[in-house]
Amino acid sequence: MATILITGANRGIGLAITTLALTRGNKVIAGCRSPASAAQLSVLQKNYFEHCSIIELDVVDEQSLERASSSLSEPLDLLVCNAGIGNGYGGMHGEENTMAVFEKVLLTNTASPFFTTRAFLPHLRKSSGLAKVAVISSLMGSQAHTAANAYAYRASKAGANNIAVTLSRELARENIAVATYHPGWVRTDMGGPNGDISPDESAAKLFERFDELTMKQSGQFINYNGDKLQL
Ligand SMILES: NC(=O)c1ccc[n+]([C@@H]2O[C@H](COP(=O)([O-])OP(=O)(O)OC[C@H]3O[C@@H](n4cnc5c(N)ncnc54)[C@H](OP(=O)(O)O)[C@@H]3O)[C@@H](O)[C@H]2O)c1
Repeated sequence: MATILITGANRGIGLAITTLALTRGNKVIAGCRSPASAAQLSVLQKNYFEHCSIIELDVVDEQSLERASSSLSEPLDLLVCNAGIGNGYGGMHGEENTMAVFEKVLLTNTASPFFTTRAFLPHLRKSSGLAKVAVISSLMGSQAHTAANAYAYRASKAGANNIAVTLSRELARENIAVATYHPGWVRTDMGGPNGDISPDESAAKLFERFDELTMKQSGQFINYNGDKLQL
């Protein structure tokens, strides 16, 4: 039975991945900033108690990452770096494009997959199979995407893709696979109500992708439907 850690597991795509992993019989470590207010995770934990643990985890807080990693004793087979934030769709003069916002978005979306992977690497190394890291990125971070807005978000996801590629190279010698994924346009707080797919549909497709990930695909940017995307 594979053990999976998911960041931002309390709502949206992270909650759907967590729920699906538990129904598949995986052991899940659900990371979230505020376990006390994660009502849906608490229900899952009651229903799957021996398979589901909730850990406090803020992906932009190094001490939080360190505490969370130290609290684990088991091997990790899959780490899903899902936690992320948006910052609107303004153009160059959009009010949201302040330096403070750039700092927050880049730290959360670009740097946190690096810090999260580094924090949990000792547990990934203990996997008896092929350990995998899945970075949940966005098509908006592809250089092929033609949008002329959302500067910080697009840059942050392009950066996340770049981090994933570099991680895939450094971790290749340890036989740990790293890939970056577009989850689709998903109906969540971030994606809004008009998205193409539900969180459950996204999670189901993402799991197909995680399951088929091999070292050969490590370093790739992959769409939820399996298509290879341009970084
Ligand atoms: N929805 C889409 O259409 C779409 C499309 C492309 C890519 N994505 C990506 O998919 C991922 C999940 O998005 P979503 O739509 O599920 O968004 P969401 O509904 O807004 O959920 C975001 C999750 O990330 C968590 N989070 C944010 N900052 C965090 C931090 N510092 N530490 C720990 N957790 C943090 C949130 O926790 P709190 O509840 O504590 O805030 C929440 O659990 C993101 O990386 C997003 O960029 C989404």
